[in-house]
Amino acid sequence: MGEDLKALLRPDAAARVQSLRVAEGRATLVLDATGLDAAARAAMEAGVREALAGKVGEVRVAMMADKAEPSTTTNGPAAAPKGPRIIAVGSGKGGVGKSTLSANLAVALARMGRRVGLVDADIYGPSQARLLGTEGQRATAHEGRLVPVESRWGVPALSMAHLSNAGQAIAWRGPKISGALLQLVEGHWDGAEVLIVDLPPGTGDVQLTMLQRCKPAGAVIVSTPQDLALIDATRAVELFEKGGVPVIGVVENMAGYACPHCGEVSDPFGCGGAEASAQEMGVPFLGRIPLDIAIRREGDAGTPTAAGTGPQADAFTALAAGVAAWLDANP
Ligand SMILES: Nc1ncnc2c1ncn2[C@@H]1O[C@H](COP(=O)(O)OP(=O)(O)OP(=O)(O)O)[C@@H](O)[C@H]1O
Ligand SMILES: [Mg+2]
Repeated sequence: MGEDLKALLRPDAAARVQSLRVAEGRATLVLDATGLDAAARAAMEAGVREALAGKVGEVRVAMMADKAEPSTTTNGPAAAPKGPRIIAVGSGKGGVGKSTLSANLAVALARMGRRVGLVDADIYGPSQARLLGTEGQRATAHEGRLVPVESRWGVPALSMAHLSNAGQAIAWRGPKISGALLQLVEGHWDGAEVLIVDLPPGTGDVQLTMLQRCKPAGAVIVSTPQDLALIDATRAVELFEKGGVPVIGVVENMAGYACPHCGEVSDPFGCGGAEASAQEMGVPFLGRIPLDIAIRREGDAGTPTAAGTGPQADAFTALAAGVAAWLDANP
């Protein structure tokens, strides 16, 4: 079926097909859009739709570009396309709670009246569809750009999980990963003033693309209180600072364990380490979020803690307030 459909495409479009899947009457095409400007992308997408019209129930086209298209002929910051300001959420170490924090930060900012979108930059291990309860929703494309999926929390989002079938192995190499990231960041974020970008762990291709191509306004670094996580957090801070991206602050996650029975807080991983490290590095400390089983449960259920009430929702709101204040102070 896929090959039959591909044969219907014009040769220039067919040559760019990276994948073509047909399932449940829907064809999903990923095209390499490298070197095409917006008009050419739109024309190619329209051509694909026209060629496949009536052959399947629905056609979804994702144009993946390795390079950002040149915006205008003039150079310099003034020529940069006007869009939302990007806040990257990173860490050196994996599993410290970046994704959980990104989702809750976005929801808390939205509750504060900020127009905020969320990009899941974890291309291989997306988690935002789960965290925001948008699993099963699929992003559409309009004029060659992705249209974010709406969540129930006032936060539109884009994740690879909104493009590919769950569990589908993604075997792209470096430049393709960059292309995927740009595709998400350059979606139709119309009206959003801030984009929270949930990064994968470490300091790899996605982080470099983020720094070089997306020019984040600032970065939030997440760490747990253990020494090992803090050493990695230091690396993440250095990466952003070297890339000219100001660090808005460090968040200490899983700081203190809130007992689900008695509410008493103990410190399995220690506490305060991130604040001390932030001070040493000369970057602000944004606050701490306790290790609370409810945060994990609500994350798994797609009902972010920050959308509710209680001490943990307040903790996320406090972080969001810190980020909002930073945004206002750094227009
Ligand atoms: N404050 C918290 N209290 C309880 N559980 C938490 C907390 N923060 C995160 N978790 C849980 O810890 C696990 C890892 O969190 P999360 O996926 O957000 O981390 P991550 O840094 O994004 O991981 P990765 O590096 O794999 O992307 C998840 O199961 C999440 O629910
Ligand atoms: Mg994550």
